[in-house]
Parts: sequence; structure tokens; C-alpha cells
Amino acid sequence: MFPFKINDNGHLAVNGLDTVDLANKYGTPLFVYDVNEIRNNARAFVDTFEKYGVKAQVAYASKAFSSVAMLQVAKQEKLSLDVVSQGELYTALQANFPVEKIHLHGNNKNYQELEMAVKNEIGCIVIDNFYEIELLQEILENYNAKMDVLIRVTPGIEAHTHDYILTGNEDSKFGFDLSNGQAEQAFKVLKEIESINVKGLHCHIGSQIFETDGFVMAIGRLFETIKSWKRDYGYSPAVLNLGGGFGIRYTDEDDPLPLDGYVEALVKEIQEQVNDTEMDYPEIWIEPGRAIVGNAGLTLYTIGSKKDIPGVRRYISVDGGMTDNIRPALYQAKYDAVLANKADQPLTEKVSVAGKCCESGDMLIWDALLPSVDHGDYLAVFSTGAYGYSMSSHYNRFPKAAVVFVEDGKDKLVIQRETYQDVVKNDLSYE
Ligand code: LLP
Repeated sequence: MFPFKINDNGHLAVNGLDTVDLANKYGTPLFVYDVNEIRNNARAFVDTFEKYGVKAQVAYASKAFSSVAMLQVAKQEKLSLDVVSQGELYTALQANFPVEKIHLHGNNKNYQELEMAVKNEIGCIVIDNFYEIELLQEILENYNAKMDVLIRVTPGIEAHTHDYILTGNEDSKFGFDLSNGQAEQAFKVLKEIESINVKGLHCHIGSQIFETDGFVMAIGRLFETIKSWKRDYGYSPAVLNLGGGFGIRYTDEDDPLPLDGYVEALVKEIQEQVNDTEMDYPEIWIEPGRAIVGNAGLTLYTIGSKKDIPGVRRYISVDGGMTDNIRPALYQAKYDAVLANKADQPLTEKVSVAGKCCESGDMLIWDALLPSVDHGDYLAVFSTGAYGYSMSSHYNRFPKAAVVFVEDGKDKLVIQRETYQDVVKNDLSYE
């Protein structure tokens, strides 16, 4: 079971606050983030690089959870920022995020996105394909501007949590292949463009990774390339960006490393490779999303109907579901939950938690062990801080949930619950 705190009322507490009070105050479904935990996660990455005396940028992958308040916390923690769209970039600008610390990703960046990045003088664009190079060159000429870029490469390693698939010919929509010379071709094109500075290389091998082997293998692949580009072009990257993917614990089935463990492995492997290559130690950039916010967030729901199928199972339904957490339906992701208002009571019932959407696949948890469940109880689902709110939808015209930050025992609403007016606000009449 996910570790949690129970207060004197027998209720689930987050950062000293009673989650039942939060649900009563703000309604449900409600995302609750422990901001102290977000800060601790950020610091665990940053401090480990500092401990090793390595120049690094820890960029928060804002796709995991982006909002003005969240990006303000990332800014306060001196993180950099990974954005993958104009919307994420816009949010960063609204949060007054230091532009020089923003990196733009995306496999299909359009003219407007690139133009917004150039106009706002963001720190770096991660180049993904040849079309993008043409667009960027044109925009830089129009604005008489310069831009640092990283080349995103697919190192032929794909992480599947515990396994790594090695593919000679990488089949991915992202980046340039190392194996078939595409990456080198991109480098040759980019290095001739005066307005572009090729600052380094980028790779991302996957998400929810529990071991360091995949990162070590990817670093090995990158250094094979670095050695050959050094030999053939006299080029040494100033930056190596190893992406995100650091795993977290959702249930007892998950066994991630402590966050500093991932960093330590990267730093050491790069040191060995650098010694072997006779180059300066590059700046290391990483892009954790889930590991910064995943465990720091939980979702509170109100339990409504129940359905018993004698001898088979009991369904309980909550007032949210795949609209605020698509991960169980999309990835068969597993979660732990407790009854927030009965957190101290014995676990006597096995129930399956259904969402409210008109879709059989809208199940949040199969076979959860809970105390005896009543209508009106509050269910808290843990570790929903990453890819929950950010992947939420208006399916069945559900308004999006509210988000509350809790820090040092105080709560603050940071995203308002949508109203039905919000849901129809872009609809135009056809009468
Ligand atoms: N950098 C790049 C280039 C990425 O593609 C991603 C995630 C990250 C960083 C952050 O990865 P993280 O540290 O959060 O694992 N919706 C899925 C996850 C998709 C991740 C896509 N890219 C989920 O809910 O599990």
C-alpha cells in the first residue's frame, strides 16, 4: 500500500491537512498536490548533480502536469522547463518562467510554435526532423535571430520498465536514427546554418523506468556517435540531454530507485565515457516529469452508486474516472486507494472502482481492498500527480476537476473547477 498519514479523526491527511475538509471545501473530483513533496523531488535531482560537482540542468517535463502555479514552483526550485507545444510554452510565459531555461520539444512543431519560441528567445529547441530545420532556418532569418539546438536521436534502446529492447533500426516517430546515418545527416545540415548552434544531443528512452541499465546503454550509444563526430568533424557536444523516464511507485508492484540513484548512475557512466573520449565533461540535462509530480498528487472522489454481481464482484462508482485519469483505461495502469474518511478502518471489502463515463473501460481500480463502503464516502487515489489532470478530457461533457496545492499546512486553489458554462463556451449556435 502507498504510504499515507492518518490524522486524529481517522482521516487521510496531506501535509497536515484533512483531506475530508479539502473535499468538503472544494468539491470532488479534486486533485491535491503536496507542494513540499514536489520541492523535495526537484531538490533530490538538483542536489545530486551538485554533490558530484557536475554542471546540469534539471528540466521539469511540463507535460506531466502544467499549470501557471506548477510552473511557478518549478521556477522557484530553479528547474529548467521542457515544453512540447505552443500551449505549454504559453503557460510557461504566463508563469513568467525564465525564457532562457525553456526547451521546446515536439515531433511536428509548426511554424507558429517555432516562431513563438524564436520571438521569445527561449533557451533551446530540440530538433526532431528535417522539415523542422527548414522552418527554423527561415524563421531565424526573418527575425535575424540565433538559436541553440539539440539534435534528438533515437539510440535504438527502448525501455519497457524492466526490459530494454534493442532495435538496430529504431521504429519511432521521434528524432533522427543513429543507426542509418540520419542523425549525422541532420548534424551536417545544421552545422552549416550560421544562425544555429548545435549545442548537443538529446535522447529519451522511455517512461516509468526502474533501473539504470537502459540509461547506461543509451549513453554508450551516444558516445559511439560522439567519438565518430569528434574524429570526423572535430565536434564535441557541450550538452547531453538524457530525457526523462525515472520511475515512481504506484503500487507495491513497483520498485523504483531513489531519485538520486538515477542521477548517480548517469554521472558515473558519463565520467567513464568522457575519460575514454578525451573530451570535456558535458553539461548533463535531464527532463523528469512523473518523478517530480507523480507521487506528490492524489485525487479525491465521492463514491456514489454500487452494483453487486453476486459471486463475481462489487462495483463502486466515483464522480470522475477516465476524464481525470485516463491511465488505467489507456495503459492498464494500477493505483492504490483508501477511503479518506475511513482511513483508520479495517480493510474488509474487495471492490472495483468504476468511473462515471459511459464506457465499460472506464475503470480506475480493479479489486481494491477498502473498509466497508457507503454512498458519500470519499475515495483517495494515490500517485495521480503525473499525466492525470494533464491528460484529462471533456468526454461526456464533464467539466474538468479542480486542483489544490497544499504547502506547510496551508491549502490554495490553483486551478478552478470548470463550470458547465466553461464546457459549452466555444459552442456556437446553429439555429
Ligand atoms: N522527455 C521526453 C522527450 C519525453 O518524451 C517525456 C515523456 C519526458 C521527458 C518525461 O517523461 P517522465 O519523466 O514523465 O516519464 N502519458 C504517459 C507518459 C508519456 C510520456 C511521454 N514522454 C503516462 O501517463 O504514463
